[in-house]
Amino acid sequence: MCGIVGYIGDKQAQDVLINGLKKLEYRGYDSAGLAVYNGSVKVNKAKGRIDQLETLLSESPLEGTMGIGHTRWATHGQPSDENSHPHLDQSGKFAVVHNGIIENYLEIKEELMAKGYQFSSETDSEVISHLLADLYNGNLVATVQEAVKKIKGAYALAIISEYDPGKIVTVRFDSPLVIGVGEGENFVGSDIPAILEHTRNVYILENNEMAVLTRDSVEIMTVDGSIVAKDVFRVEWDMVQAEKGGYEHFLIKEIHEQPRAFRDTLASRISEDGRRVVLKELEQGRDLLKEADKIFIVACGTSYHAGIVAKYAMEQLARVPVEVDVASEFRYRNPIITDRTLVIVISQSGETADTLAALRESKKQGARVLAITNVVGSSVAREADDVIYTWAGPEVSVASTKAYTSQLVALYLTALYTAQVRETHSEDEIADLISGLQQLPEQAEAILEQKGQIKAYAEKISSHPSLFFIGRGIDYAVCMEGSLKLKEISYIHSEAYPAGELKHGTLALIEEGVPVVAIATQPEIYEKTISNIVEVKTRGAHVLGVGTEGDRELEKSVDETVFVPKTHPLLAPALSVIPLQLLAYYASVARGNDVDKPRNLAKSVTVE
Ligand code: AGP
Repeated sequence: MCGIVGYIGDKQAQDVLINGLKKLEYRGYDSAGLAVYNGSVKVNKAKGRIDQLETLLSESPLEGTMGIGHTRWATHGQPSDENSHPHLDQSGKFAVVHNGIIENYLEIKEELMAKGYQFSSETDSEVISHLLADLYNGNLVATVQEAVKKIKGAYALAIISEYDPGKIVTVRFDSPLVIGVGEGENFVGSDIPAILEHTRNVYILENNEMAVLTRDSVEIMTVDGSIVAKDVFRVEWDMVQAEKGGYEHFLIKEIHEQPRAFRDTLASRISEDGRRVVLKELEQGRDLLKEADKIFIVACGTSYHAGIVAKYAMEQLARVPVEVDVASEFRYRNPIITDRTLVIVISQSGETADTLAALRESKKQGARVLAITNVVGSSVAREADDVIYTWAGPEVSVASTKAYTSQLVALYLTALYTAQVRETHSEDEIADLISGLQQLPEQAEAILEQKGQIKAYAEKISSHPSLFFIGRGIDYAVCMEGSLKLKEISYIHSEAYPAGELKHGTLALIEEGVPVVAIATQPEIYEKTISNIVEVKTRGAHVLGVGTEGDRELEKSVDETVFVPKTHPLLAPALSVIPLQLLAYYASVARGNDVDKPRNLAKSVTVE
């Protein structure tokens, strides 16, 4: 997500911090800022590129040999000067940079405001600087320890304070943080590239660990204060590898970021007791959610495939008819829009020209538009009536992976919220699905552990000219995404087919050795899916079955299996797509393709 750099030593901190932030530019950001201590803490920050910050610094440099820096990827609050980090408390004594999401920030903010603290940004992060000021007990480290007891969510923090100059205090929970060890100087970074120019000796902090840096020492402890003896990790990667977090490509890194993206997208959107979805973003549009007689979901590519999954969830949970349209078609087909129509547009980038045009057309015809997007302040976000952000973090690889699964989570939340508003399901049924959503991060991690097996299968099929993905119902929606992913990055032709439709023509293409990936996670149509698998198998297909853990019948009906953990059938796509992403990735690698930049494609398609 955002980027953190910190420096303490004898060089001018400003130069080290700016260089460090530049090394994190590949991650994407919308604003940047620094805080440097020199008798007092001074901050310079601005919306926009690092160059803009540099222009500011050339006019008013920050002198001093200790400081923290940040590049922000907006989550709470638009990209703006005020929302940029570092955040100061009211007295200007504490400066904080934060990566992650503070889930209970509204609660803390209200408490602090009641005590008279004034906030100058819309961010969740600013609560930390005021909280530190409020809790300060004469000991900076102990105060930080008290503060982290109060915050919930994900955080990597770097903090400096006028009360204890000569120290940078850092903490990590569910958001990465590394400490770079130098001679007479020490560093902190959210990623290794930020500090690699200066040192290859790093400590990698684990959850609930903190590090206190001075010029000459690094002390690592738990947030409870117990000292941690940690081995220095010697980084042998070069800069390019470091940007990818040690992975060979951004795509595989982003596939591995999905558990974190699930957690962030769910963060603060579920009630404390886990029984209700809380979507403040939809409060204004609540009446329409209750009254709507039709929902259109409009998007392109992978986002369109997320829309197809959402149709199943929305219709089943909220009992409202949903039509899903490819954005480039929608505006030209004269759709029937009334004052009881809700249009949901989905776009990772928020800049896709076709999706934007569909949004504008819908608004022109009087529809209320809800956007699901990953980019705060994007065109889609600005022009829609309501926005739900997917907190997947910047996606660098052209092929969308973590953005897709985060879109699914945002859409499940929307469907559940709509079900609550329309009172179509009992609280127990909703709580059951919420519990399923909360298990997704761990379940996704378990699937990622099977990557070796999927790699072996991908290498086997990588020389085949064509492949089929088959499934029924919501499994078919996942097949469409798996097929797009494979085509996009491996350049192997593939087709996604509703398994029951094969016999109406496509079955003619099945012959000895044709690879077929069959998804069978849906209990209601399970037996029928198995029959369709047998149809292709008897015609010679080599079948990889993707099913639910413990499914012995599937195992007997196919040649190879990959299992995903058991979840509610509606949520299965968020898991069953992961083996397909891995399959596409390893097939692309086996064919020697440019995985992150597939031929003829762009990350953001801003032309119609
Ligand atoms: C996904 O792997 C593709 N690169 C592409 O289909 C993409 O999803 C599509 O262009 C829509 O982009 P958006 O979500 O940014 O609007």
